[in-house]
Amino acid sequence: MNTSASCYHLPNNKPKTVIITGGANGIGAKTARTYHGHGCNIIIADLPSSSDAANALIASLTEPSRARYHPTNVTSWHDIQALFRLSKETFGQIDIVVSNAGTMESKGFFDFEEDEHGELMEATEAGRVIDINLKGTMNTLRMAMHSMKSNPPDADGTRGSIVLIASTSGYFGGTGVVSYISSKHGVVGLSRASQSVARQLGVRVNVVAPFFTPTHITSGYSEKWKESGLPANTTEDVANAIVSTSVDPARQGHSMMVAGNLVREIEEPRTTSTKDWLGEEISDIMTRGGKFFNDLGGYTLPQARS
Ligand SMILES: NC(=O)c1ccc[n+]([C@@H]2O[C@H](COP(=O)([O-])OP(=O)(O)OC[C@H]3O[C@@H](n4cnc5c(N)ncnc54)[C@H](O)[C@@H]3O)[C@@H](O)[C@H]2O)c1
Repeated sequence: MNTSASCYHLPNNKPKTVIITGGANGIGAKTARTYHGHGCNIIIADLPSSSDAANALIASLTEPSRARYHPTNVTSWHDIQALFRLSKETFGQIDIVVSNAGTMESKGFFDFEEDEHGELMEATEAGRVIDINLKGTMNTLRMAMHSMKSNPPDADGTRGSIVLIASTSGYFGGTGVVSYISSKHGVVGLSRASQSVARQLGVRVNVVAPFFTPTHITSGYSEKWKESGLPANTTEDVANAIVSTSVDPARQGHSMMVAGNLVREIEEPRTTSTKDWLGEEISDIMTRGGKFFNDLGGYTLPQARS
């Protein structure tokens, strides 16, 4: 893995510019600080309610002039447009984007709340979680790919690098937090679905999937976790995994799971062991189906039903 100082600079020696959504707190804040420590320009894109935290973080940096805060709600396409436009006006091209903004539900999906007529009420909290974690990540990824495709290629031929923050909840469902787990499975699918276009555009798209890390999201049970003696990430562990994944030219379509002090790539073993978990026959059908779509030049989209 090449993560020398040059990874954080463009061939003309200017610092790379990194946008971190949800960068005012928790994992995002540590990630922003780590990129800055490597000499990058950083842009913290977070909600207006996090402006004090973002501005305090910037004020504490060694070179605040290499950092900006843009009030951004990732669910708003207008905000995402403004974020990229203003960031480019300030620093030139955007080289790395970390799609990290995320939230956890504050009401259970199967809490069957009824209205005054005894009717089951809609799970509005589920929509909020899917909007922030999945739609927000889709907005960020789409705009980042569009922005990066016209960057000149880096020394390794890459025009940009995007890291999507999923979770171990993108692979497992045991905790039963329905909306969060559904959204994070969506983020893993988003990365897989983006690989073909990403390669064509010269952009690397990877996932980092953390396990338990003490932040606001886990504050409801983090003391009990500590007492249990189970291994925990620090925000620094996760930030280091995000930063090294983003600058490593060998990472493309990978997913780095971070648990305790362990980091494992899990997409390649999943692919190479397909016959083991799917069986030889279905695996063969899937391979032939994949070749069919490749030969076709991609999935032929149906007309929208009127
Ligand atoms: N902490 C963990 O154990 C853990 C585990 C797996 C994955 N993650 C993921 O890591 C990421 C960071 O979470 P964290 O643990 O640091 O939590 P956190 O609550 O400390 O930070 C989340 C940040 O996202 C911002 N945010 C929320 N909604 C937003 C929106 N609509 N637009 C812009 N910003 C928004 C918040 O203001 C906050 O600054 C999330 O995607 C989370 O799902 C966390």
